[in-house]
Amino acid sequence: MVVSIIGGTGPQGLGIAKRLAIAGVDVIVGSRKEEKALKIVNETKEELKDYDIASIEGMANEDAAKAGDIIIMTVPLVAQAPTLKTIKEFVKDKVFLDATVPLETALGGSVKRSIGLCEGSAAERTQALLDGTGVKVVAAFNNISNSQLLNIPEEIDCDCLIAGDDKEAKEIASELINKIPGVKAIDCGPLERARQIQEITPLLIALNIKYKSHFGGIRITGIDFDKN
Ligand SMILES: NC(=O)c1ccc[n+]([C@@H]2O[C@H](COP(=O)([O-])OP(=O)(O)OC[C@H]3O[C@@H](n4cnc5c(N)ncnc54)[C@H](OP(=O)(O)O)[C@@H]3O)[C@@H](O)[C@H]2O)c1
Repeated sequence: MVVSIIGGTGPQGLGIAKRLAIAGVDVIVGSRKEEKALKIVNETKEELKDYDIASIEGMANEDAAKAGDIIIMTVPLVAQAPTLKTIKEFVKDKVFLDATVPLETALGGSVKRSIGLCEGSAAERTQALLDGTGVKVVAAFNNISNSQLLNIPEEIDCDCLIAGDDKEAKEIASELINKIPGVKAIDCGPLERARQIQEITPLLIALNIKYKSHFGGIRITGIDFDKN
């Protein structure tokens, strides 16, 4: 199984790539520019040389989308539609994890606020923009900060709330996410729940700023998730 991270050169995508590679998952880091992906992957291999990592490669986003069995997209909201346009033909029927959070910064606003999207959430917008491809979108990694992801070797202390309309896709996503030590995937229900998941992120950012942290995350307690 190969996981391709579209926009994987940014802190969120690279953090996920490093954590998955350390967990033994073959990863491809995608970029608009192949050279940028290759450079970052070389630096990453050097940084992780003491770990027994799985393979990690760098490619242009289109090639990464073609080569990956599972796709994770980690680009800012402004890049969502243009990026999806470039990879749409290569993601047919794949499981597609979307980390996009519609922060107000997309409109020059605050990181502590999100903006409303007519589709309901960024993940639903991704599903709509990929209409006709059979892709199964799962909102994921919206609430785990890049600071936690990149804080290797510390274990991550955070749940990963996910939402999606396809049961099997969510099971595949959960199995992948749960490979990262300290992270527990929690299925929150259909894709329409992505809006609520994404709303947590500006709150976490506001808390991090208020209490001078970078590691604020979320854990759901008091629920037996096997009773489903
Ligand atoms: N950072 C966090 O802690 C965090 C936490 C939860 C969720 N998220 C979400 O995860 C996503 C990625 O976050 P990030 O902080 O890693 O973002 P970022 O650094 O701003 O961007 C990630 C990558 O996207 C590509 N990109 C940036 N602007 C673009 C544009 N205008 N058009 C096309 N591609 C562009 C770039 O890759 P190339 O130049 O290589 O193409 C960049 O390295 C966002 O939607 C964010 O809301 C982030």
